[in-house]
Parts: sequence; C-alpha cells; structure tokens
Amino acid sequence: MPVPDPQLMISSLQSGYGRVKVVNNISLQISTGEIVAVIGRNGVGKTTLMRTIIGEIPALTGAIRFRGIDVTRLDSTRRSRLGIGYVPQGRDVFTRLTVAENLALGVRVGDAEKPNLERVFGFFPILEKRLSQLAGSMSGGEQQQLAIGRILAGRPDIILLDEPSEGVQPNIIQDIGRIIRRLREDERLTVLIVEQNLDLIRAVADRCVVMDKGAVTGELQPDELSDPEAAARYLAI
Ligand SMILES: Nc1ncnc2c1ncn2[C@@H]1O[C@H](COP(=O)(O)OP(=O)(O)OP(=O)(O)O)[C@@H](O)[C@H]1O
Ligand SMILES: [Mg+2]
Repeated sequence: MPVPDPQLMISSLQSGYGRVKVVNNISLQISTGEIVAVIGRNGVGKTTLMRTIIGEIPALTGAIRFRGIDVTRLDSTRRSRLGIGYVPQGRDVFTRLTVAENLALGVRVGDAEKPNLERVFGFFPILEKRLSQLAGSMSGGEQQQLAIGRILAGRPDIILLDEPSEGVQPNIIQDIGRIIRRLREDERLTVLIVEQNLDLIRAVADRCVVMDKGAVTGELQPDELSDPEAAARYLAI
C-alpha cells in the first residue's frame, strides 16, 4: 500500500499544561525521508510540541495524522507501535540498567515482533561492545547513542530527536549527524529534530522551522543560519 504523503501532518495543534497553553496553533507537514529541524529559543515550546506529537501530552485542539491515520486521540504506546519513535531531551536512559537491558526495553516499547539489534549495532558499534556496561557509567555521548539505538530497535518510520547534542562532546555530535544522514539515505527514515547546535543543524537538516512563543513563525534554509545575527535570533546562543 503506498504511504500517503505527507507522512506526518499536524494541523492547528494546541496543547499545554493545565490551563497554560504552550503549543499555539501549529501546523506542520513532513514528507517521508525529510529531515526537519525545529529551532527556537529556550522555553518557546519545542519539547512540548514533541511530547504532544508522541502523545505524552494531549492535544487540546487540532489534529495529528501519521501515515494517513488520525493518531490525535491514541495513547503514546499505540503511536510508537505505528512507527513514531521519540528520543526525549536529556535522553532518559535507565542509568542503573545495562546497555543490553536498555535495548531490550526499547524493543518492547516499539514493536516486539520486529526487533533488529544487528541493524542498531551497524549504526552504533559501540553499543555492541558495551552490552554489559551500566548505562549510567557511560559518557553523555555514549548514552545519547544508546537512547537513539534503543528507539531504532523498535523500527520507527519517523524519529523525533529532542536536542541530541546536549551534553555531548563535539566529535560524537558529528558522529550522530552522520548516523542521522545514513538513516535517511539507507532507510528513508524521517527525522524531526529539535536542536540548538548550529553545526548539527547544518549537517543534517533539509529545512528549519522556527518556533516562537508556541507558534511557528517562519522557515529557513539551514545555510541561512550561517549569518551570526540570524543564529542569535533563532537559537539560544
Ligand atoms: N511539565 C510542565 N508543567 C508545566 N509547565 C511546563 C512543563 N514543561 C514545560 N513547561 C513550560 O512550558 C513552556 C515551554 O517549555 P518547553 O520545555 O516545551 O520549551 P522548549 O522550547 O523545549 O525549551 P528548551 O529550549 O529550554 O528545551 C515553558 O514555559 C515551560 O516552563
Ligand atoms: Mg526542550
């Protein structure tokens, strides 16, 4: 069956916490295999948008369609089973569990019938070497690779990455950028990435959606962020 494009379609989405509206009328369309960066200063609602897409926060109004399916009222487990993978800000690996145990949990949350750790190790060879190591004893960059690898084990069609460069040393940020590109080139994985790191944005993104005060206020080509004034305006730097 052909996959309807856009793969992810967000229409007039609003969400927030209690009575406080944070995501304010966002519409966004992402095609299969696109890599889209969401940029914006601290506190504008980038994480809240991601958590609404995955279903951790309910939509107040609007709709989220994924692969032609209305997922707006589905819980987060069902959304992840349909193929939406989410790597939260701050990574959220289980620090007191081993790498192997973390990966096993990722497979279970995703789709237990289709685990593919060989593929994950192809992208992140370090994880195979560290299977029995406690996740909490790994560096920030290694933990980020584990967090992404754990989600990939569930075979998502789209992956939502929330600031994967945070607390990661520059050479590993470059590795993560290369892996994101490879996931798209080799597997047509779609990527929605919230990011503040200019080099990573420029290395991976096809386009940048600018957020301010909960709304999408514009769109840029990643090259346009080479202008220091533009970068200062749109990023928390
Ligand atoms: N669990 C929560 N309960 C109440 N308010 C929250 C909660 N999480 C975030 N907020 C508020 O919602 C607003 C948007 O936060 P959010 O984390 O989505 O921003 P962000 O753009 O991801 O910021 P950052 O760049 O710092 O990660 C902020 O004002 C924040 O204080
Ligand atoms: Mg955030």
